[in-house]
Amino acid sequence: MRAAMFHAYGPPEVLTQVELPTPVPRADQLLIRVHATTVTSAECGMRRGEPMWGRVLIGLRRPRKGVRVLGLEFAGEVAAVGPAARQFRAGDRVFGFTGFGAGANAEYKCLSERASVTMMPANVTYAQAAATVDGFTTAWYFLRDLADVQAGQKVLIIGASGSIGTYAVQLAKQLGAVVHGVCSGRNVKLIESLGTDRVFDYTVEDFTASGERYDAVFDTVGRSSFARCRPVLAPRGCYLPTTGLVNTALAVRTAVTGGPRVRTGMSVRKHVALATLREQLSQDRLRIVIDRSYPMAEIVEAHRHVDSGHKTGNVVITVVDG
Ligand SMILES: NC(=O)c1ccc[n+]([C@@H]2O[C@H](COP(=O)([O-])OP(=O)(O)OC[C@H]3O[C@@H](n4cnc5c(N)ncnc54)[C@H](OP(=O)(O)O)[C@@H]3O)[C@@H](O)[C@H]2O)c1
Repeated sequence: MRAAMFHAYGPPEVLTQVELPTPVPRADQLLIRVHATTVTSAECGMRRGEPMWGRVLIGLRRPRKGVRVLGLEFAGEVAAVGPAARQFRAGDRVFGFTGFGAGANAEYKCLSERASVTMMPANVTYAQAAATVDGFTTAWYFLRDLADVQAGQKVLIIGASGSIGTYAVQLAKQLGAVVHGVCSGRNVKLIESLGTDRVFDYTVEDFTASGERYDAVFDTVGRSSFARCRPVLAPRGCYLPTTGLVNTALAVRTAVTGGPRVRTGMSVRKHVALATLREQLSQDRLRIVIDRSYPMAEIVEAHRHVDSGHKTGNVVITVVDG
């Protein structure tokens, strides 16, 4: 099978197209023929070997064997099932998240049927389905599981035009929150159209000088700090950063002190969020923002674009045409 692989940390050019043996599903596994996958900011970090502490997980000097094929989100068709798999059949259209072993930048991927995989709603394409999983389930984890956002609360989304941000805006609105977003001028109209009540263009405005107070500030892109956001947080408000080792330490400290709290972590168990995502897609309740699509042969270009830090929504890789 065709796959995109990297053997050393570095720029997008470390990715090469290779031929690998097609994997064989173990007892409870599905063999998925991947039709579409994506390039996320998180996996561009894996490719660069950043942040450095992340190398403890994926390989100190070079990526370890199990993570050399990137691709965290996928949508495709079940090609075969292992003898103990009960929930899916060959021919099912499925989508999901591979976990940190990645591996969806390939024609086939084996995954346990108990992993983050579910049936694809009939009303979305493979490209659309692949472009929802990481963004939506991460937004769910931070806004529902960590912050428990309630109707009437006020939420600020920093990086509202990114993959997590575009879903976070929509989810926070669904939860009944008043939602403000931070993005650059070229994305203001898009973010307004997703339902924000106020948008700050970070190139000309400073949201910390607005006089607003928030129950939750969700920094999806790591462009702020707790110290900077603290003055705009309500007395027991939550600062929710998706990245940063320092934020993990702050989360421990602020859990036991009074005042605004830092809450962070990794969205790993995605089953509830994935079931909700599937339902919302089937009811046409989510807008999926796709910035660009590339065939797998052009994955280096796709990584260059995502590395810029300025993609809008999601970047899709089509593995099977059509
Ligand atoms: N903790 C977890 O479980 C978890 C899960 C997934 C991902 N992550 C992390 O989340 C981060 C990426 O999230 P993502 O994929 O949603 O990002 P993304 O899609 O790459 O974000 C790109 C967007 O960020 C906007 N942006 C850039 N600078 C900004 C600024 N100063 N203020 C506001 N917006 C700005 C850009 O808008 P303009 O072009 O208009 O500037 C662009 O639309 C990564 O660090 C990843 O590792 C964490």
